[in-house]
Amino acid sequence: MLDNYEKFKKDILNMTKIDLNCYKEKQMRRRINTLITKNKLQDYDGYVDLIKKDKEKFEEFVNFLTINVSEFYRNPEQWKLLDKDIFPKLVEGKRQVKIWSAACSTGDEPYSLAMALSKHIDLNGIKIIATDIDKQVLSQAKVGLYNKKSISGVPDDMKKKYLKQVGASYQVADEIKKCVQFKEHNLLKDPYPTDCDMIVCRNVVIYFTDEAKDEIYKKFYKSIKPGGYLFIGSTEQIMNYKEMGYIRHSSFFFER
Ligand SMILES: C[S@@+](CC[C@H](N)C(=O)[O-])C[C@H]1O[C@@H](n2cnc3c(N)ncnc32)[C@H](O)[C@@H]1O
Repeated sequence: MLDNYEKFKKDILNMTKIDLNCYKEKQMRRRINTLITKNKLQDYDGYVDLIKKDKEKFEEFVNFLTINVSEFYRNPEQWKLLDKDIFPKLVEGKRQVKIWSAACSTGDEPYSLAMALSKHIDLNGIKIIATDIDKQVLSQAKVGLYNKKSISGVPDDMKKKYLKQVGASYQVADEIKKCVQFKEHNLLKDPYPTDCDMIVCRNVVIYFTDEAKDEIYKKFYKSIKPGGYLFIGSTEQIMNYKEMGYIRHSSFFFER
C-alpha cells in the first residue's frame, strides 16, 4: 500500500533537488501513484529503490514529474498583443533587451520570443536566458529540431525566415539560436537572473502551492527592471499583484 509520502518527498529532494512540498500535493500524489502502479510496485520505498538503481527509470520519473508540453507561439492571441503593444514599448530607446524565459521546456517559447522580437530590434540586441529544471528538455532545446505540430503556430513569414525543413522535422536557424542561452535552473531554489526587461513564465506555477507561487512572483518583481514586464500563462492569475507592486497591463501581462 502507498504510504509514507513524507519520507518519499525527502528521498526525492535528496536525489533530484525537486522539493515536492512546493507542488500541489493532491495532484502530484495522484500522478506519482499512477507511475508507481505502472511500474508494478506497491510502495514509495520500492519505487525509490528502483529509480536509484535504474538511470532510465530515474529519467522517466523526472520527465513525468515535470510535464514538458510546449509549442511555438502558444496562445497566439497573446503573441499578437506582444507584437502590437508590449514589444514596441519594451524596445523603445534600447539597443539590447534581456528576457528570461523561465521553465522554457524544449525551447519553443524562447525561440518564439527571439523570432517575434526580431521584428522590433536587431537580432544582435536580443539576449534571452532560457531555463528549466529538466536537463533532458534543455538538451533537446539546444538541438532546436521540432515536429510539424510544434511549429504550426509560427507565422508564415517567420517560418520562411527562421525554420528550415530537415526531413520530417524543422530546424531553428543559427541566428535565432544565438539569441538564446539555455541553463539549468530550479525556480524554487536557485538565485534568479537580475535586470530583466521581461520575464516570461508560463504553464509551470499551476503545479505549485499558493505559497510557492507567491514567493516566485515576488522574486520575479525584483528581477524585472522598472518599466519591464512579466508575461504569465493563459490559465494563470496573480490575485495580489497590486500588493506585490505590479501594474496590470492586461490579463497576462504585468508591468513593474
Ligand atoms: C508545461 S512546461 C511549460 C513550457 C513553456 N513555458 C510553455 O508555456 O509552453 C513546464 C516546464 O516547467 C518545468 N519545471 C517544473 N518544475 C520546475 C522548477 N521547480 N523550476 C524550473 N522549471 C520547472 C518543467 O521541467 C517543464 O519543462
